[in-house]
Amino acid sequence: MTITIGALVSDLKSQFEAAGLTEPSLDARRLVCLLLDVSLTDLVLHADRILAEEDVELVRSAATRRCRREPVHRIVSRRSFFSLELVLSPETLEPRSDTETLVSAALPIARAAVSENGTCSIVDLGTGSGAICLALLAEVDGATGFGTDISKEALDTARKNAERNDLAGRFSTSCGSWFEAVDGTFDVIVSNPPYIPTADIEALEPEVRDFDPLAALDGGLDGLDAYRAIAAGADEHLALGGHIIVETGYDQHEAVIGLFQGLGFDCISRIQDLGGNDRVLIFTRKRVS
Ligand SMILES: C[S@@+](CC[C@H](N)C(=O)[O-])C[C@H]1O[C@@H](n2cnc3c(N)ncnc32)[C@H](O)[C@@H]1O
Repeated sequence: MTITIGALVSDLKSQFEAAGLTEPSLDARRLVCLLLDVSLTDLVLHADRILAEEDVELVRSAATRRCRREPVHRIVSRRSFFSLELVLSPETLEPRSDTETLVSAALPIARAAVSENGTCSIVDLGTGSGAICLALLAEVDGATGFGTDISKEALDTARKNAERNDLAGRFSTSCGSWFEAVDGTFDVIVSNPPYIPTADIEALEPEVRDFDPLAALDGGLDGLDAYRAIAAGADEHLALGGHIIVETGYDQHEAVIGLFQGLGFDCISRIQDLGGNDRVLIFTRKRVS
């Protein structure tokens, strides 16, 4: 039986409503557009286009996955982040829009380092898909990036993303736990570490709990394990005049500031995401007066 692209989107919307998804219409349009490589404008202008049978099959089997709560970008294995198109793998977190707040906060710092010194070395601890580091490299010519992760498979994906975005010449990786994977000092240390308290993971939305890797979510008993490790190693790996920029959970600013202050750092900026939630902190070494 033939079907138009517009009718298929309507079918999916009804299917997603019945499955209890919160954004059935948006998900239906996004899934069809991404799978069939069609723009939203074309979807509206050519809603009466008849689809090939194999395209219908492809979309219908993806829709079944979405009804089981697999996120749209997981299904298509890619998403855009800042100016980049990134591929995802089962071992990488799907980068979030909130994390673009960290990139925006780091950009002026990296640009200033390049204009002062001709270069800026960046380490991204827990790089996952490479999202933060690669977004910075794409915007700041002259910067170099080093991505670390506990997951070898995530680093394979990060390197793939560097190649796809023509950034491989300025990006390298190392596998290991936080600063154990790092030698030397950096002008900018960035990290979006796992920060969800272990006991809270069970109650997360299935899209997150069942499809993002546990290592990307689980921040230990109080959610702060990674910040403790990063704060403890930062002094050894931060260049003179350098900055540490971390993403946090919405209710973690005070606790994370306390951890870094106790280890010789000043918080020079607290930044909220577009939703108005506490999201990013910037630290420098304490000034000696
Ligand atoms: C919240 S995800 C962030 C991924 C990516 N930076 C982003 O913002 O989309 C945290 C990342 O930290 C990594 N990770 C977890 N434990 C780690 C550890 N002990 N050392 C280094 N990386 C770790 C995870 O594998 C995951 O890729």
